[in-house]
Amino acid sequence: MKKTVILLVCATLIGGCTPRSEAERFADNLLKKMTLREKLGQMSQFAPSTGVVTGPDGDPIDVYAMIKAGEIGSVLNLKTPQEIEHMQRIAVDSSRLGIPILFGHDIIHGCKIIFPINLASACSWNLDAVRKSASIAAYEASAMGIAWTFSPMCDVSADPRWGRVSEGAGEDPYLTAKMSAAMVEGYQGASLADSSTILSCVKHFAAYGAPEAGRDYNTVDMSERMFRDRYLPPYKAAIESGAATVMTSFNDFDAIPASGNDWLLKTLLRDELGFDGFVVSDYRAIEEMMAHGTAADMNEAAGTALNANLDMDMVSGAYLAYGEALVEEGIVSEKEIESMCRNILIAKYKLGLFDDPFRYGGADRFDKSIYKEENLESAREVARESMVLLKNDSGLLPLDSGERIALIGPFVSSPRAMLGSWTAFRDFDRTVTVDMGFKSRFPGRVSVAKGCDAFDDIEGGIADAVRAADKADVAVLVLGLPGELSGEAASMTSVELPDCQKKLLSAVRQTGKPVIVLLATGRPMALESVIDDIDALLLVWHPGTMGGHAIADLVSGDFSPSGHLAMSFPRCDGQIPVRYNYKNTGRPADGVGLRSTNSRKIYQSCYLFTPNAPLYPFGYGLSYTEFSFDSLEVLTPEVALGESVRIRARVSNVGNREGAAVAQLYMRDLVASTTRPVRELKGFEKLFLKKGESRFVEFVLTPDDMAFCRKDMEFAQEPGEFKVWIGDSSDAALEGVFVVK
Ligand code: NOJ
Repeated sequence: MKKTVILLVCATLIGGCTPRSEAERFADNLLKKMTLREKLGQMSQFAPSTGVVTGPDGDPIDVYAMIKAGEIGSVLNLKTPQEIEHMQRIAVDSSRLGIPILFGHDIIHGCKIIFPINLASACSWNLDAVRKSASIAAYEASAMGIAWTFSPMCDVSADPRWGRVSEGAGEDPYLTAKMSAAMVEGYQGASLADSSTILSCVKHFAAYGAPEAGRDYNTVDMSERMFRDRYLPPYKAAIESGAATVMTSFNDFDAIPASGNDWLLKTLLRDELGFDGFVVSDYRAIEEMMAHGTAADMNEAAGTALNANLDMDMVSGAYLAYGEALVEEGIVSEKEIESMCRNILIAKYKLGLFDDPFRYGGADRFDKSIYKEENLESAREVARESMVLLKNDSGLLPLDSGERIALIGPFVSSPRAMLGSWTAFRDFDRTVTVDMGFKSRFPGRVSVAKGCDAFDDIEGGIADAVRAADKADVAVLVLGLPGELSGEAASMTSVELPDCQKKLLSAVRQTGKPVIVLLATGRPMALESVIDDIDALLLVWHPGTMGGHAIADLVSGDFSPSGHLAMSFPRCDGQIPVRYNYKNTGRPADGVGLRSTNSRKIYQSCYLFTPNAPLYPFGYGLSYTEFSFDSLEVLTPEVALGESVRIRARVSNVGNREGAAVAQLYMRDLVASTTRPVRELKGFEKLFLKKGESRFVEFVLTPDDMAFCRKDMEFAQEPGEFKVWIGDSSDAALEGVFVVK
């Protein structure tokens, strides 16, 4: 007994009695040969493609000389397989230890073939499709020489003012967790040793999706409880599915910038979540601690980040410039630097870079791997599944009766509107625009008029559009926001349609022709003021390379829409942020505060004149067929703590054609030690059903699904009564109850 205790103590003290993996042994041997400067070099990433690289003092740096000196561990943003190969050759042949460079890039929703923006793919509720999109992205990127993508973005947000909502999976922690995990699986595959898989990167740690007022990079301040309940689950799920790297966020968190936040990076990420890969800062985020006001200079910023165990510095150059002196002065321990560098070497080893530094990339492999027919087909499928039919009065869509179509609007011929943000390797001439898709699917039936630019009138534009509509049977307007106005640094104070587009819509409306709007956008928009002028509304997002074909697939009725919103659509700007999983408050609202200026105010948690409910809620989406949900049964109406609950319901296709339903399970914990959301998504399944077909869906709610951050700060279940709903939107009405004893 005594012996065991002594052994255990010894294991903990020297941290080494557990057998080391091959990768760890390799890294440890290599570390013995490395100088402190070489270690800091591995921990430094640069972006030579952005022009002249500058050091921390703003002086230009000779990148090749640094590579030869073993001072660069990773490079981001190179553009061609040739550049990558050339740089790798220098690192391997001309640096003392020949350690290969790890090349990274933002492969966010595809590499050469662009898939729908991530928020759109989340609306497919199809995890297999999302996993496959990520694996195709990895396949193309790895063929270029890129072995690391800075994706998935796991940031939850209900604020469409924030441009980066386009890169995430929307407002819900459960859906975002599932989507993030599927993306990690897609990028990393079954093994990183496969040279078509790449490292994924969970970002932006943490809570980057909650900047004040939706303004990018802004302050984030919330309770730890809110963070754990709403924001942490997707990062955790992605880490649990094996993500190899994590990126810190730009924001501060509880008043400490994330890149120097040792609670986030040590206590939570390493100790609690058990993350064992490496952490990279966001772009110059270490340096930005000076602007945040928590570091007086770069030296202090470098020390803070190193002491928080942030393994790799993206671009600021701080580690290389100040690391050695910080060790000499005893501010940072060399042992910790060694362990950070070790994390990076292990990742390189797992990728097989030490066996063959050129196993990723090569011009030949690249040419053979991109734009494969079957991969383009997958992009078209997922684009189709991502689009959400929001309105379809009198079954106006599909256009399957030979109608003459006037195709109108600023985005009709715009490849950029198909692609969205983060498309470094895009080819406009491989992108199928809406007019291309329509002309190929509806030959001889389409006339085109631009009408206006995205934000400005064009001379004679409205008159042309009206003429085109007059001559057609139906007007199809492609409206929304330009692809480049979503993503990073793209916050907006209004998400309404720009005025010139409103004017265009209203003029076309007055022709009396039925009006279909295809909404191209990277964020939810506030459409209440125009919705009555629209008979049918198909949300197409920025659907990617195959966008035009995918849109025509749905408009023609060749396929039925099956997307459901991953983010609520507000009525108006003032309602933002609006989410389905809000809390009830002490004065839950059942109406608006004032119906007219002379009616009596109601003292509830609501707005004067505007309802709390969004225009279209989370989970919502129509189809060309109809689905009904019934026979909900809680198969285990009473369970003990620690036991799972089984619930089922029947889904039937009661319409006139085949289609896909998304069955969604929502839960509410009725009385708990802390306030709980009125509904929380806890399961979903996408089902393809033939006309007249019915199927039972069964969901299992595990104790983990019921867990939350309790009053005592434990993340665990509580006994009590619960309500559940199953349906195809977050306002599903079919309900049941169960009790946890
Ligand atoms: C800044 C962005 O916040 C991050 O998402 C991205 O991966 C890096 N730049 C690298 O481009």
